[in-house]
Amino acid sequence: MVQSSSAVCGKTCELRCIACDHAADAPGQNFRCPACGDLLEIVYPGWKTDQGLRPSGLNAASLKALWRTRRKSLAPIDQSGVWRFRELLPPFPDQQKIITLREGDTPLYEMPSCARIAGVQHLLAKHQGMNPTGSFKDTGMTLAASVAHREEFRWVGCASTGNTSASMAAYAARGKMHSLVLIPEGKVSWGKLSQALDYGAVTCQLKTDFDGCLRVLNEVVQRAPVYLLNSVNPYRIEGQKTAAIELLEQLDWQVPDHIIVPGGNLGNSSAIGKALLEIKELGFIAVLPKISIIQAEGANALVRTVRETGGKKLIAVQAETAASAIRIGSPASWKKAVRVLQETGGTVEQVSEMEIALAKAEIGAEGIGCEPASAVTLAGLKKLVKAGFVKSGESVVLMLTGHLLKDPDYTLKFHRGELFAAGTNEARTLAGKQRAPIVLEASVDAVIATLKHAEQT
Ligand code: F0G
Repeated sequence: MVQSSSAVCGKTCELRCIACDHAADAPGQNFRCPACGDLLEIVYPGWKTDQGLRPSGLNAASLKALWRTRRKSLAPIDQSGVWRFRELLPPFPDQQKIITLREGDTPLYEMPSCARIAGVQHLLAKHQGMNPTGSFKDTGMTLAASVAHREEFRWVGCASTGNTSASMAAYAARGKMHSLVLIPEGKVSWGKLSQALDYGAVTCQLKTDFDGCLRVLNEVVQRAPVYLLNSVNPYRIEGQKTAAIELLEQLDWQVPDHIIVPGGNLGNSSAIGKALLEIKELGFIAVLPKISIIQAEGANALVRTVRETGGKKLIAVQAETAASAIRIGSPASWKKAVRVLQETGGTVEQVSEMEIALAKAEIGAEGIGCEPASAVTLAGLKKLVKAGFVKSGESVVLMLTGHLLKDPDYTLKFHRGELFAAGTNEARTLAGKQRAPIVLEASVDAVIATLKHAEQT
């Protein structure tokens, strides 16, 4: 089965191959270029006018005003922090087919303590974990699931380290579609797995890793009418762009010097970069922030690809990290991410398991919290400041991608001192940050004694 891109894009946008520029009018089920097999992306040829104006005549100033006005609207698609920016997304005339959970509109927090720790004066965190299913995946899912709904698919499917599956299952349920989830057995947190189950997905735990799940799914969608909802689906990327647009809106269009993003399958960094390049092209902003991508040391395919091949050839790795969301060895969107690094002047960095755990505790102590994969951003920032890539006076935004409650097991292990073996350097370094629960008799004296002890430490 093939789907027609013109059905979704109309005349305004096209699906194009990122490698050979082939226009894919009817992409196959796996969203690969029919000519060369590389990834597709959505482009908007009509935007490239001399004046930077869109065909409708709307310019940056009037769109900025329109988007602000929509914040007061009661219409579900205006209340969505994705569809509110629909002028920069593929047209979707049949609004009845839109599946929205009021995603987006996530908070931007000041992070003064983390700023001090990292050595910068001004640090913000955009918390994408505050989306309806607790991760940034919802912003892309609302768009791509709506496309599936509109094209009358009965089944949608994804391979996942957990968050994509939770998000997909929710949107599928809202759109009365069935969902098929392939996850690596034993490597997905209970929080995420339980979401997929509750939202009614057919959930298969495969005896392989994420990369293996994705390989299987790619075959499944060729043989069964299942709509692929991984981030190789270019509509996912379009929806995820809105996080960057919304961020700039929250900053009153003042461009930060740096945006720091965790890297797994590399759809998110690609989407954020695409958004910024597009809004610069359209005249919303005059300069680009540097987008830097941080990976766990044990899942550092992009870092190695950039450092060892200059971004020319993917170096896949056997991924291992307790930040299970980014336990990915062969990232699908690596070429898109390399392009973002090159076009924005960003860089890559890798961080250890200890650095991730420490950064996560520091984000938690700020009253914000996040899941481990998100904490690589702060851990990476510390290293980028030390290396002189980020200057202390520059403004930095961390993209936090998942909610603290996505992986409570990790947090409990951290505070109980079970994340690293006793006596190791890691365990000693982290001990001061641990707040294990204290078991007491039900006695007022015992509680007051504990309070006094806590005050002194
Ligand atoms: N942070 C979180 C919380 C994630 O769930 C993911 C990816 C990433 C960062 C990395 O984003 O893949 O776009 O580079 N999770 C996927 C999933 C792969 O299946 O939930 P990416």
